[in-house]
Amino acid sequence: RTSAVGDAGNGLTSVRLGSANQPGPTEGPAAARYAVDPLRPQYHYTPYQGWINDPVGLIQWRGTYQLFAQFNPASPFWGPMHWAHAQSPDSVHWTNAPVALTPPAPAGPSDTTGEWSGSAVADNGALRLFYTHYTDTAAHPGAIREQVWSATSTDGTTFTPGAGNPVIPGPPAEAEAGFRDPKVFRDLHDGLWKMVLGSGHGGAGKVLLYSSPDLRAWTYRGVLLSGDGSTGGMWECPNLIQVDGRWALLVSTNGGEHYFLGDFTGSTFTPTASGQLDSGPNFYAAQAFTDSSGRPLLVGWMNNGDAFDPNRLDGWSQAETITRQLSVRPDGTLGSAPVSQLDRLHGTQLARRGGTAVPTAAPVPIADGASLDLRTGFDLSRSSATTLGLTLFASSAERVILSYEPATRQLVLDTRNSGYGQGSVSHVTSAPDAQGRLNLRVLTDRSSIEVFTGDGRSLTARVYPRYTQSTGVTAFATGGEARLLPTEAWAMTSAW
Ligand code: FRU
Repeated sequence: RTSAVGDAGNGLTSVRLGSANQPGPTEGPAAARYAVDPLRPQYHYTPYQGWINDPVGLIQWRGTYQLFAQFNPASPFWGPMHWAHAQSPDSVHWTNAPVALTPPAPAGPSDTTGEWSGSAVADNGALRLFYTHYTDTAAHPGAIREQVWSATSTDGTTFTPGAGNPVIPGPPAEAEAGFRDPKVFRDLHDGLWKMVLGSGHGGAGKVLLYSSPDLRAWTYRGVLLSGDGSTGGMWECPNLIQVDGRWALLVSTNGGEHYFLGDFTGSTFTPTASGQLDSGPNFYAAQAFTDSSGRPLLVGWMNNGDAFDPNRLDGWSQAETITRQLSVRPDGTLGSAPVSQLDRLHGTQLARRGGTAVPTAAPVPIADGASLDLRTGFDLSRSSATTLGLTLFASSAERVILSYEPATRQLVLDTRNSGYGQGSVSHVTSAPDAQGRLNLRVLTDRSSIEVFTGDGRSLTARVYPRYTQSTGVTAFATGGEARLLPTEAWAMTSAW
């Protein structure tokens, strides 16, 4: 099959898609093609064409990290869902693999039947996917809308839906709002496989629990957790994962990515803390998994489905976050940080400086580049500024402002003056460490920003700078002087 996406004189040629019986994609080296696409992230997963949303099926299988994604190859908008597939030796370098799951032939042009989100497990010698088989009931009247299906692969690239489909033929009674996104894991409490599913009923989101001795026969165990309505009427993409001896239950709500930390007995979950996993405007549908070395890792979708999106002019849309590692913060809440392997993408070191003074109203240039790993921060014990911070993707015409107010401990990400008119202000409370240091790690990648604080907070945003010169990073202080912490910056190389 070929697709004409990208043939509109924008430098893209048509690409051959993979399918179960025809390997692909064959568009040539992704790194070279992506390098000339000015607003395409270079070290984040993006689709070689079309649209992606949720990262799904994350697993380290036979040593190799597997990332799948909800995928519509036909256009840079959501549509009939396929599973795109990429593989990595280290969770930061990616190679495209053939499309893993394709929807059945549509009944008509508006049929959005497809293979929705799910997860992966190692099943003896096989790689087994569990996913939501979604049937567009407008195109197929009388059909069951959401079922759990499964597909297996023995080579890690070619997937065959099982003869046992549907694995779960439909929702239980208390799941009227939805029944999707099965996340399967082996539970050491009782040796059974457990599956959590996203649902909702009576205006409140719910997580449903199933169990199985063999991944084939599944028993409904009941509602694992129910919201109170304040986090929406439908919870999507649940994850239940052990982090530093506690259990984290993550759900995607209409307010973003929500977590509960608590105790899981094998059949009940009791939350003791909750919050937003990421406080930026573009973070949703995260999937967590434990890798072979026991680390709880996570990839999210930097969703901006409603926003004006210039990437669509280049034939694609949406990006995933970098791989992050989860941890329980000292105050008992859930935090995350970039996976340590991210350093393998470091290219040229652009900056290395000691604790420079930043005079009030006289910004100090730090680095210049569109794809950067920046480690910096402020020594608040030696700063008198009322507001201090960084400008990113900066030129005289536009900039992103990351600012911090020591008095209120508010870290604010303001993207309103970067790019084509869209933008937002988001904020998170972050405390300095015991020495009064506010540590910051900032990852920029042409049209994305991920900010991590030393205490495990994060802010994720997409931005679309208008000008290729908008690559500056400066430190600023107002109302007094600020003292930068020792600072390093690297140009990031391609993940492809
Ligand atoms: C989350 C979600 C999932 C669903 C998928 C469909 O973004 O709505 O609940 O399975 O996307 O693409």
